Amino acid sequence: MTQRSVQRVLVGHPATDGAGVRMTRVIATPELDHFDPFLLLDEFRSDDADDYIAGFPDHPHRGFETVTYMLAGAMQHADNQGNTGLLGPGSVQWMTAGRGIVHSEMPQQEDGLMWGFQLWVNLPASDKMTEPRYQDIPASDVPEITFGEGVKVKIIAGGLAGSTGPVSGVATDPRYFDVRLAPGSIAELPTPNEHNAFVYVYDGAVEIDGTAVSKGHIALLGSGDVVRLQAGGDVRLLLIAGRPLDEPVARYGPFVMNTAEEIRQAVTDYQSGRF
Ligand code: CO
Repeated sequence: MTQRSVQRVLVGHPATDGAGVRMTRVIATPELDHFDPFLLLDEFRSDDADDYIAGFPDHPHRGFETVTYMLAGAMQHADNQGNTGLLGPGSVQWMTAGRGIVHSEMPQQEDGLMWGFQLWVNLPASDKMTEPRYQDIPASDVPEITFGEGVKVKIIAGGLAGSTGPVSGVATDPRYFDVRLAPGSIAELPTPNEHNAFVYVYDGAVEIDGTAVSKGHIALLGSGDVVRLQAGGDVRLLLIAGRPLDEPVARYGPFVMNTAEEIRQAVTDYQSGRF
């Protein structure tokens, strides 16, 4: 077993997206354009309705997958393929935009806490124009396991200790674990050696390979097949890994392709109503 080291630690930036939702942007920042195959990571967390009430009205995507994972609050999803779904606490929406989709995510509450994450996962060139696919996963379908003393893991994607997350058929073979550690606990979580992996701490602080990583920070990990997490106090974090694509990335807003020409085509197709 080779332990993954910490290569870089970066802090998220305040950002605004959708129709004016305030959030923290962790990947897709000036310091970190992407972390192959991950194109963007946002955390939205506010109990001030002004920060989220405008939501994400109709907007397009092409060429990658958007993953929404809710911790608190409720959002309604609707898209132009006829899919609708209510995203509540603990639920996941794994949306493969493929050749093109137009969707909206709108808050279903006028006050209270709204808290969750959006991750963008790239698609290989061969899958960028695939048919759109939508996996709407209720909280009850996300297994939570005890992984040693004081360690709880919700498995959204990938396998761990004989349990498997509900998300399937994703090109980059991702691991998406929501990990909670009690004070003093240690977890050694396996990740495929060839995957890129990162940890995003959303509460408390954790030590990885001798480096402290605190709330609001992402740690980009070196290669290895196990991530060793050591908790001083209570800590909650995401451990996410995926197979890197090692392909050119051309991105323009909600379109992520391999070449500038494919981006121009995406804009033309969207403007002519071909999504
Ligand atoms: Co979207």
